[in-house]
Amino acid sequence: MAVTEHGPAAQKSAADGTKGRAAAQNQGEKKMAEIRLDKYLAGAGEGTRSQVKEKIRKGSVTVNGQPVCRPEQKVDPAKDVVEAGGVRVTLQTNRYYMLYKPSGCVSATEDGTQQTVLDLLPAGIRRGLFPVGRLDKDTEGLLLLTDDGPLAHRLLSPRKHVEKTYFARVEGNWGQEDVDAFAAGLDIGDEKPALPARLQIGRRRENGMEVLITVSEGRYHQVKRMAAARNGRVVYLKRLSMGPLTLDEGLAPGQYRELTEEELRLLGTEASGSPGRSVC
Ligand code: URA
Repeated sequence: MAVTEHGPAAQKSAADGTKGRAAAQNQGEKKMAEIRLDKYLAGAGEGTRSQVKEKIRKGSVTVNGQPVCRPEQKVDPAKDVVEAGGVRVTLQTNRYYMLYKPSGCVSATEDGTQQTVLDLLPAGIRRGLFPVGRLDKDTEGLLLLTDDGPLAHRLLSPRKHVEKTYFARVEGNWGQEDVDAFAAGLDIGDEKPALPARLQIGRRRENGMEVLITVSEGRYHQVKRMAAARNGRVVYLKRLSMGPLTLDEGLAPGQYRELTEEELRLLGTEASGSPGRSVC
């Protein structure tokens, strides 16, 4: 990845001439992930997977009024009306939003005095959502908002080593020794040194340099403390990626959008309707 504050998605979309997907924000345009009918029914508590398959095969299930006898038929939980034995069956699905966190708000669900990341969403969407992990008040960039606790746990678990890449402007003058020191695991004043991290040095400026730093843990002020351990001072920090998610550069700071089906699949969520490649 080139050392710029634009993540790989932006570099790709610039290359193929497409615009970001942020236009879909707030418009409800995004197609919800379709899932198999048997998975829908089992998820809605209609029985085990084999019990609901049996119900479907017996012909007691309809989708939009039409009898369906194939358990693998795809349904869209946002649109399709599913009935079993003439009774409407609804599925509560988790919600997932990518937010471009701007500087100046806190990564919390509520705060007595300061603007929170949830304040950036309309009240009707906010309920039950929380940020997956924290960015400092002055840090920008990718933040996942969801109501999926198990997914958040997997992404944040220290045992999973989910990678996060940050673009930073740093006062200092780093070179290969610093790249090696990051790779060896820096002492940042905790009981244990930081895990090995990747430092890529980009443009040098009068007062410092632009870098990418990839870490696989999430300690308090981690990047700033790693920089300080090498006599650097972070003056701007932006998260570009977290696990398989990359900040959509079609989003402006403060904007958000739902995750795409592909992103859900990469995260290995239930909502994706396919097992996919899980983050863990
Ligand atoms: N590291 C930091 O120092 N701050 C952040 O907000 C994220 C990572």
